[in-house]
Amino acid sequence: TTDVRRDALTVLVAAPRGFCAGVDRAIEIVERAIEKYGAPVYVRHEIVHNRYVVDALKEKGAVFVEELDEVPDGVPVVFSAHGVPKAVPAKAEERGLDYLDATCPLVSKVHRQAERQVEKGRHILFIGHAGHPEVIGTFGQVPKGDMTLVETVEDVARLDFPAERELAFLTQTTLSVDDTADIIAALQEKFPGIIAPKAEDICYATSNRQAAVKQIAESCDLMLVIGAPNSSNSLRLVEVADRLGTDARLIQRASEIEESWLAGVGTVGVTAGASAPEILVREVIARLGEFRTLDERQVRTIDERMVFKLPRQLVD
Ligand code: F3S
Repeated sequence: TTDVRRDALTVLVAAPRGFCAGVDRAIEIVERAIEKYGAPVYVRHEIVHNRYVVDALKEKGAVFVEELDEVPDGVPVVFSAHGVPKAVPAKAEERGLDYLDATCPLVSKVHRQAERQVEKGRHILFIGHAGHPEVIGTFGQVPKGDMTLVETVEDVARLDFPAERELAFLTQTTLSVDDTADIIAALQEKFPGIIAPKAEDICYATSNRQAAVKQIAESCDLMLVIGAPNSSNSLRLVEVADRLGTDARLIQRASEIEESWLAGVGTVGVTAGASAPEILVREVIARLGEFRTLDERQVRTIDERMVFKLPRQLVD
């Protein structure tokens, strides 16, 4: 009814949200590569897991493929922010392709740690989600058999290593902070000598976005998380809200929002995964404003100032 429609809706917008420094850098690498080399520039895998971003770069002359085989000779190729197995740049070099690595520096850091642990003769237990490109990339830094995937606390119970086997653990950068802490606790209980990474592998952007959702979730009747279904860090934001008992939905675009979602809702939380641009947040808030009168407030838990350098080839 008209009355309900005009009821004020409080919108709590989480901050930090959206683009992280690694995503910013990855997109800039593709844009600058197009400027420098001219279109087309090939990109192996979605540069970041967001359709809006990918479509915008396609417009500018990027061509997205899944495998290096699909890149013709003589055109530049960019590797996505998630990182690639070592075999990929090796193959690109073999073919004489100009390649630009948009792997997030925080993912590269995990890659180097993996190599180092293997050099020290340790077996790595890698906490992550099967099939995610970051996991595939990190596994591809070490010889087959030197790394085992651990997805859950139950997986830890099933692990079996001789007492003398030296172990280390590492993690994907975009995991649930809470779940990972549980898995690490289980690992340390089962393997007291296991070597931990020097600093946590879950990145600042992942943990800050989860903390920002935690801050507002309990005041919200509904949480809207803008992100793609294949975006690990976005899925984790939905889980964080869910676990605090707040109904949460993952959406890619504002047009998915139905008025019925707002029935009985007085406060909506809005956040965005690390690969979702701010323009989509504005679009979502504008859509909510079509249904109700908005009282919009931003709730910031921390300031982020992280910036990563571009690869040398792109800096004049
Ligand atoms: Fe990097 Fe974390 Fe973003 S690993 S790409 S800063 S989500």
